[in-house]
Amino acid sequence: MSHRNTLIDFLELEEIYTQSESPFHRFYRIKSIAERCKRCRLHKTRTQVVFGFGNITSRVMVIGEAPGGNEDIYGKPFIGKAGERFSQILREYGIDRDRDFYITNVVKCRPPNNRDPKEDEIMACEVYLKAQIEIIKPKLFLALGRYAAKWLLGLKNTPQMREIRGKVLTSRFDVPLLVTYHPSTVDHARNANWREFAQNAIKEDLRLFSDKIKEIKAKGYI
Ligand code: URA
Ligand code: SF4
Repeated sequence: MSHRNTLIDFLELEEIYTQSESPFHRFYRIKSIAERCKRCRLHKTRTQVVFGFGNITSRVMVIGEAPGGNEDIYGKPFIGKAGERFSQILREYGIDRDRDFYITNVVKCRPPNNRDPKEDEIMACEVYLKAQIEIIKPKLFLALGRYAAKWLLGLKNTPQMREIRGKVLTSRFDVPLLVTYHPSTVDHARNANWREFAQNAIKEDLRLFSDKIKEIKAKGYI
């Protein structure tokens, strides 16, 4: 089924699809539906749904994996240690996360003990991400980690990060896509060499991302 059909089925199912509705109104209506969502098992263990945060009029979207402990408590994505590191690197490149893009995750509820999201949870949750993408109409994506990369590339198997990071790819939505390691990779590094490698790779990739954001800004899309 195409992504558009899936979305319209969902919207009709929820009886919220009206043609006269403004995109922003629609965005916040879908958010309020998500906030009561029980489409997958993660609803049982979450504190709250983390729909996303940032500028919905910016045509740049950043997509991570799933909320962690802090995100689950405060309802905002990427506010823990990894998120702070990510935001700080971008600040050094002149990019402000709240002003310059919208950021969300492949799944909107925290998996217990921060385990990886399961395939059926990603499938259940993707209606929301597809709706967000349909409304925001991004000109550029950044995927943080392999789950977001896999989903945005429409791959069956989990990709090897070292093969896809650091270059401009084309997402399944026909929009340019950059991929980098998930910022928490640095915290979970097995050894100092790997930590240093990941840290440098993320910095390099975010430099490219910042340059692309500035190009998009120059065209008036932010
Ligand atoms: N990691 C993610 O992938 N998303 C968050 O929101 C926080 C940590
Ligand atoms: Fe619904 Fe997504 Fe939360 Fe699952 S993770 S309950 S599909 S909002």
